[in-house]
Parts: sequence; structure tokens; C-alpha cells
Amino acid sequence: MASAPALVLIGAGKMGAALLGGWLAAGISPRDIAVVEPHPSDAIRSLAAESGFALNGAPRPAPTVVLAIKPQMLDEAAPGVALWLEPDSLLISILAGKTVANLSRRLPAKKIVRAMPNTPAAIGRGITGAFANPDVTPAQRDMAQKLLSGVGAVEWVGSEQAIDAVTAISGSGPAYVFLLVEALAKGGEALGLPADLALRLARATVEGSGELLHRAPETSAETLRKNVTSPGGTTQAALDVLMARDGLAALLTRATAAAARRAGELAG
Ligand SMILES: NC(=O)c1ccc[n+]([C@@H]2O[C@H](COP(=O)([O-])OP(=O)(O)OC[C@H]3O[C@@H](n4cnc5c(N)ncnc54)[C@H](OP(=O)(O)O)[C@@H]3O)[C@@H](O)[C@H]2O)c1
Repeated sequence: MASAPALVLIGAGKMGAALLGGWLAAGISPRDIAVVEPHPSDAIRSLAAESGFALNGAPRPAPTVVLAIKPQMLDEAAPGVALWLEPDSLLISILAGKTVANLSRRLPAKKIVRAMPNTPAAIGRGITGAFANPDVTPAQRDMAQKLLSGVGAVEWVGSEQAIDAVTAISGSGPAYVFLLVEALAKGGEALGLPADLALRLARATVEGSGELLHRAPETSAETLRKNVTSPGGTTQAALDVLMARDGLAALLTRATAAAARRAGELAG
């Protein structure tokens, strides 16, 4: 009989597959990994065959279990997930809205890290906000840091409530940036540019600006903005509108407050 895996991934959909890819790229041995996924994609099947991690093997308790199913599947999946847990297991959940209390009511786990990644995780450029409940040991927290950093940066928060704010900023944030591309393109159309050209201009601008930020981690966004803003120039004319009292910052403050409120309502 195979020995117990060190690490179990339950749910190898979009986010689970991204995590798995990150672990393998980071050099975690496939022999230490077991993956549970009722409908594995062809990519996951081939990866299992190539690298040798166990796919849908018999459950046995493991020290670390990463839960990456859809939140609405939790009740149905709980009895199966429980078979992989022992009393001291570390449970890392990326389920949006499922609180530590909710998870510990449904699963035999008390050492729980709740994490909120975002979609750039798919290319290893995500950022994850994470909260560890007080029962998580320092070694388990280090393990969570190692596993979550397989898909990008990790930021720890000291209260579980802060996860709602993380959700509002970085969890939902990629959608705001995509909307910025759409809105910028609409501005171009309003100025008479063909729609497809406006979209290409807007898209490449957001892509390139993101890359500038990425390549200059020591330079603040404010400095990068000021670098392209000559006093009295064209950028300044637009920023005067965007930075007005009811401008972009006020709008995003309202939008992110709505997202955080919704995250709180969905928690359970
Ligand atoms: N995508 C994001 O940006 C993002 C960001 C932050 C957090 N999250 C969280 O990440 C989680 C996963 O999201 P996702 O976008 O990766 O969803 P997804 O692509 O639907 O992946 C979930 C996977 O779990 C599988 N699954 C369902 N029941 C299972 C069970 N009993 N045992 C094992 N696997 C099971 C599903 O299989 P079937 O398809 O066969 O049902 C599916 O492949 C969600 O809880 C979400 O809140 C996602």
C-alpha cells in the first residue's frame, strides 16, 4: 500500500490546478502529493501520468490538506474531505466566503488557514491574502506560506474579517482592471477612434503599465504616475477629472466597500 501523502489537493479546477502547477514548479516532489478531483481535465490526467502524483487514490489522513472546491460544494464534499484529515492536520481553504468557524463545523479540522488568491495565480503572478487561526503552528504557517507562494505573493492578515477586505481589493480586483480597459476603450471610441483600435490601445496600455509596476517594485505607483504627468499637459488635464473629489478614488472606495459588504453577507 502506498504511504500517506504529505499534501492533498482537493479540487483541481482552475485555482487548484494553478496551485498544483506552482508546487511542482517549486520542486515539491510529486510523490508527496495526492490530488482528488471527480472530473479531472485532460491536462491534470497527463500531468499525473508524467509526474507521478496520485490522482483519486484511496483517502488516508495527511498532514496538509488544501481545499479548492467551489464553496457551494462544501456540504456535499465534506464527508469525503474528512477522510483526508487527522486532528492535527493543517487545512488550507481557498473557498470564498467560508469562515474558519464554518469550516471547523463541517470538517474535523481545527488548524485552519483561510486564503484568498486571485486569478493571475494562473500565470504565477497572483497575490493571496491569508489568515491563520490561533491553532495553526508556526511550522504549519510556514508550510502554508510555501504552498500559497507557488502562485505568487502572499500577504498575511491578523484578523479573519480582513479577508473580506482582501477579497474586495485583490480577490475581485482583476475584474476592476479589465473594466478599466473596457472603459478606456470606450473613451477612445467617443473621441472617434475605431472600436478595435481603441481596444488595442487600451489593452496594451494596461498591460504595459502593469509590467512597468512589476519591473520597478521599489518605485511607487504615485511616482510612476508623476513621471508621465507634465504640469499643464494632457495627462494632467485627464487626471484633474479622475482625481476630483468625486473621481476615481471615491468611486473605487465605494465599489470596494460594496464588495467587502457582499463578502461579509456571503460568509457562512
Ligand atoms: N478563481 C478565482 O479567482 C478564485 C479566487 C479566490 C478564491 N477562489 C476560490 O477557489 C475555489 C475554486 O475555484 P475555481 O475557480 O478553481 O473553481 P473550479 O474551476 O470549479 O474548481 C473546483 C473543482 O473542484 C472539483 N470538485 C467538486 N466537488 C469535489 C469533491 N467532492 N472533491 C474533490 N473535488 C471536487 C470540481 O469538479 P467538478 O467540476 O467536476 O464539479 C472542480 O474541478 C472556490 O472556492 C473559489 O471561491 C477562486
